[in-house]
Amino acid sequence: MTSAEIRKSFLDFFRGKGHRIVESAPVVPHDDPTLLFTNAGMNQFKDVFLGTGSREYSRAADTQKCIRVSGKHNDLEEVGRDTYHHTFFEMLGNWSFGDYSKREAIRWAWELLTEVWQLPKERLHATVFREDDEAHALWTEVTDIDPTHVHRFDEKDNFWEMGDTGPCGPCSEIHIDMTENADGGPLVNAGVAEVMEIWNLVFIQYNRDEQGTLHELPKKHVDTGMGFERICAVLQGKKSNYDTDVFTPLIHRITEVTGTPYEGEQPQVAMRVIADHVRMLTFSIADGAMPGPEGRGYVLRRILRRAARFGRTLGMRDPFLWRVVETLGDTMGTVFPEIVEHRNVIEKVIRAEEDSFNATLDRGLEIFEEIIARTRKEGTSEITGADVFRLYDTFGFPLDLTNLLAEERGMTIDSAGFDILLQEQKERSRAVARKNAAVSGMNEQADIPFETHPSFDGYSVFIGYDTLAEDVRVMGRWHDHNLLYLLFDRTPFYVESGGQTSDSGVLRWNGREAEIKGLLKVHGNTVHVVETHDGFLPVLGDVVHAAVIGRARRDTMRNHTATHLLHAALRRVLGTHVQQAGSLVEPERLRFDFSHFEKVSDEQLREIESLVNEKILEGIPVQQHRDVPFEDARTMGALMFFGDKYGDSVNVLQIGDFSMEFCGGTHVRNTAEIGLFRIISESSIASGTRRLDAVTGRGVLRFIHQLQTQLQQEKHRQEELHETIRQLEKELAKATVQQGAGALDDILAKAAPWNDSRIAVARMDVADGEQLKSLGDALREKLSSGIGLLASVIEGKVLLVCVVSDDLVKKGIKAGSLVGPLARRLGGGGGGRPHMATAGAKDTEGLDALLADAPSIIREIVER
Ligand code: SER
Repeated sequence: MTSAEIRKSFLDFFRGKGHRIVESAPVVPHDDPTLLFTNAGMNQFKDVFLGTGSREYSRAADTQKCIRVSGKHNDLEEVGRDTYHHTFFEMLGNWSFGDYSKREAIRWAWELLTEVWQLPKERLHATVFREDDEAHALWTEVTDIDPTHVHRFDEKDNFWEMGDTGPCGPCSEIHIDMTENADGGPLVNAGVAEVMEIWNLVFIQYNRDEQGTLHELPKKHVDTGMGFERICAVLQGKKSNYDTDVFTPLIHRITEVTGTPYEGEQPQVAMRVIADHVRMLTFSIADGAMPGPEGRGYVLRRILRRAARFGRTLGMRDPFLWRVVETLGDTMGTVFPEIVEHRNVIEKVIRAEEDSFNATLDRGLEIFEEIIARTRKEGTSEITGADVFRLYDTFGFPLDLTNLLAEERGMTIDSAGFDILLQEQKERSRAVARKNAAVSGMNEQADIPFETHPSFDGYSVFIGYDTLAEDVRVMGRWHDHNLLYLLFDRTPFYVESGGQTSDSGVLRWNGREAEIKGLLKVHGNTVHVVETHDGFLPVLGDVVHAAVIGRARRDTMRNHTATHLLHAALRRVLGTHVQQAGSLVEPERLRFDFSHFEKVSDEQLREIESLVNEKILEGIPVQQHRDVPFEDARTMGALMFFGDKYGDSVNVLQIGDFSMEFCGGTHVRNTAEIGLFRIISESSIASGTRRLDAVTGRGVLRFIHQLQTQLQQEKHRQEELHETIRQLEKELAKATVQQGAGALDDILAKAAPWNDSRIAVARMDVADGEQLKSLGDALREKLSSGIGLLASVIEGKVLLVCVVSDDLVKKGIKAGSLVGPLARRLGGGGGGRPHMATAGAKDTEGLDALLADAPSIIREIVER
């Protein structure tokens, strides 16, 4: 059977047993902050198991894309070294939601394996949880398994949990014994390829909470998962998953790209790792993950670097992983079209990331060699935490990469020492951040020893969504030196959060006024900090008028709503891989950081900007849904991101059908209020992260004024420049003429004598006809009696100037009748007054010859 047939036969079997065949969930779960990657088929049904959600069917089956490289289920270390663990794999599964139970689950599993697929019964083993007598009994009751093939194991092997928290329960696994004599029973759960688990039947009946306590679920469920690649190997009679048709096209492509055959232990491990990792990268990027410095992004980065480094062992120095993506699309694209649809982006992301790592890899490997040599010299086989940290910090070597390199040399690493240094570094950057925050906005969590009003219920309500000024009552107060910290029953002041900066404003009380010096969030309440020097000292219970500077706040709101429009526009123009990586919203401007693998072109920027402005001009009402239960928000399709902590209820901002995001900030009521939107700059802030700075409303106006001033200054500068050029040209002309005039003496000295006069002929180097004429004038003056002929080639044409001294003019010699015949010899003509005439001609080649003959030609004409 081909892998496609095996997948189909599994789904057909369970369809026949009344199961609904569902789609695989994305491998990147955007809606479950407890999970970096989908790690099991049951993830998408977590809510059903917990009783918080339901489906219109009670039996389901599918093939689910899974990644296991982090958290509770992490197979990374085995991948490639063995033949049956993967970072990315497909899990075939069937589920019962409070419907059938252990009995059917076991019976059907056995039926599919032994009747449909005809696997030899003597090679199958079942394991059950130590205490699960029911499952133990069922195996011999509903199947004809060899009773000695049913084994009991502890929690470690037979109690399945999704993560540290969540649905869980005892499980029963099916293992296949592929040893030569089918005597591998004692090897079940021993971690050998010959006796491996192929199917896990989990009987979900508990939820583990954050304290680690198990709670009985309202209903009991079945959750099974079968390793697709493993069953393919079994059914295709292969010893290795990599020898099945799931992997052979990839391995073949890798041998092609690397020019290395799939032979020998080391190259085989490398190629298996590469094939596996390219699958992991392709599928996760297709579902919206991006390599990055932390969280999920860092997992992708680690995997890519690991694969790139294995590429080195095959002699690959240039990016090449991306070249395997297309083959993966060819083999799996019909089942998972997203990897074909997003192929372009996937290839670009992988290639860019490979490129940036390659740049430091060689240097890092060199340093690694030095470290090894030094460590060995010191007589130890453990690389210090400091060295591991240096490789991490300076050369981007993830811990597992260094570990791998060390292992290959028979060495170990001090990972605890590394962790301490990493923590210290994090602490240092936190301290810097704290210091910056303390200086800029005093916006830090702090405990303040408030004296509170007896009627204070502990909550100060934020009313700033609708109101900018209000009379409020002092509910908490702390006076420290010249600073007064105040808590009110409610407040219009917004404290920095979600990128939006704090409001500025004043408090008025008893004819006195105090400017807000800082705003703090303490246990969810807004604390207002003012100076007391003008006797501004309201006491508990006093009513104070709190007023936000409306103009600044309204500008901030314009920028905040525009940030949402920008985010949505980016996802439409660049693709849904774009994720917010940070933002800053101030009255003057907005800044938006997001994941994207290359520079945003000018054309794309224009398109993004136009789209945002289109939405502004459409005048779309902005809806703020407040205190929506988290689950409802999810159903509404609000955009949320892993790493953000969402409470039970959330605020959702909706701009028509264009944008819907979680957001607690303040916004305009209609996009039209934004006025206009303009992107000011685009830049890179880290590998794979871009930054846009933009302005709206008044900011655009300011921007236009600045541009206008710049333009005027530019115009002014240009005028000055032109004037300077004109001056310089004049001076140059003068200098040329002077220089030419200096040469005239020379010319006169060489002039041919003729009767009592002279005939002076010369070729000059000048910029234009005017200059040649000036020189003609000068020559004429110097020739007390005689004829002069000056020539030059100007812009590819011959120019002749002929001058005749006054005495000869009186004798009837005319410059005009001399220059014409001369020019005609070069295919031109001309004329002029008796004492000076000019002519032009095209034949520049003949000029020198003409000048050589000129004295005799002139004599001939004059003497005729
Ligand atoms: N959730 C179980 C597993 O992942 C069975 O699907 O093994």
